[in-house]
Amino acid sequence: MNGYLAKGSVVAALGGLLFGFDTAVIAGATEALKAQYSLTPAALGLTVSAALFGTIIGAMFGGVPGDRYGRRGSLRITAILYLISALGCAFAFDWYSFVGARFIGGLGIGASSVLGPMYIAEIAPPKLRGRLVGFFQFNIVFGILLAYFSNYEIGTMGFGDAEWRWKMGIAALPALLFFVLLFAIPESPRWLAKKGRVGEAEDVLMSSGDPNYRHDLAEIVKSVDEKHGSADESLFQRKYYLPIFLAVSIAFFNQFTGINAILYYTNFIFTRAGFTKVSADLQTVAIGATNLLFTIVAMTVIDRIGRKKLLLIGSVGMAVALAGVAAVFLSGTHQNLLVWCLVGFIAFFAFSQGAVIWVYLSEIFPTRVRAKGQSLGSFTHWIVNAGITFLFPVLAESSGGLPFVFFALMMVVQFFVVLAVFPETKGYSLEEMQRKLGIE
Ligand code: BGC
Repeated sequence: MNGYLAKGSVVAALGGLLFGFDTAVIAGATEALKAQYSLTPAALGLTVSAALFGTIIGAMFGGVPGDRYGRRGSLRITAILYLISALGCAFAFDWYSFVGARFIGGLGIGASSVLGPMYIAEIAPPKLRGRLVGFFQFNIVFGILLAYFSNYEIGTMGFGDAEWRWKMGIAALPALLFFVLLFAIPESPRWLAKKGRVGEAEDVLMSSGDPNYRHDLAEIVKSVDEKHGSADESLFQRKYYLPIFLAVSIAFFNQFTGINAILYYTNFIFTRAGFTKVSADLQTVAIGATNLLFTIVAMTVIDRIGRKKLLLIGSVGMAVALAGVAAVFLSGTHQNLLVWCLVGFIAFFAFSQGAVIWVYLSEIFPTRVRAKGQSLGSFTHWIVNAGITFLFPVLAESSGGLPFVFFALMMVVQFFVVLAVFPETKGYSLEEMQRKLGIE
């Protein structure tokens, strides 16, 4: 792999690191915030979910600057949002300013979930694309672990009342680094071509070590079809129905695995299963580490065995593991198996949906509408995430097992939908993929 390409992917994937960090860091500050601002349970819920509201809006509109100012240019905006959010939380002067800062961070997370994978997919050669875009997910998961670790470390430093400010503010450092490094990478060649800047696009393709850069550039220019005014067409047309279906369904199933019900409520689940003294930290670390390990495993095989097979294997594995969780709850026995079912679930999630979602979303739309299509997919993922996060505690309170029966069934449905409808995308250039999907 060429250094130019590696640098571009690593820098863009930093957006994923901040995404993971910012979603998880709040867990270490909730108690202190509750005390500082005398929060009722509802106000605490709002404090935590403010970022999630931001992500929905950030994902919905992230494609717009992506098309207008470029993928790299817009990633710079997300870096600024991350920076404002970290400093805004650290220097919050009242509860409203804290919630506002979290919301701004959410905008950054949502927008970077569209722009980061898109940028990487647009510079990556077909045979490495799965692995390079998969690196974005690796960074999300690594960012989550880093937040746990950083919260723990800061907790030992004796900051007293200012501890939560440090926990939240520390993210300003990676945000600043992200912003600065974004000046050292090239713009996406496909966006450049879409804007008619063909010479610059050619330079980027050449520098990224593409041996057939002339041929590939011609393909890109043809696919953008600027002459016919299609460089900025609408997404909602019959010819895009299949990729729209694929994007919405992969996003939908990603969250209907129950991943965030499990990640956000690990403690709640263990207590509900009858554990009195929960070694919460240990379990959280075990789950986070498994997530990271199997994301790496998936990255090593995604370009060889393909996205579709990973999704199929994951559907089966997750359905079995989730049925196990449901059985523990419904029968009220074998509680000692719960942690293994959850770790098994995370392993299969990381190996399949976790590693595939951002890759697949960045591959199924032609350059002309990619930003809009990815926004739609990412937005679907965030809105379903918010719904499940909101409903899970209520449903689990009335029946510990039923939500997991539901998630297990969803994985059975996913298996058949993927088998019947999802095309394999590995190894094709983005332009060949467009032809494969029958899009003129
Ligand atoms: C998803 C998150 C999830 C994480 C888990 C991400 O791709 O967007 O919702 O918590 O993966 O690894």
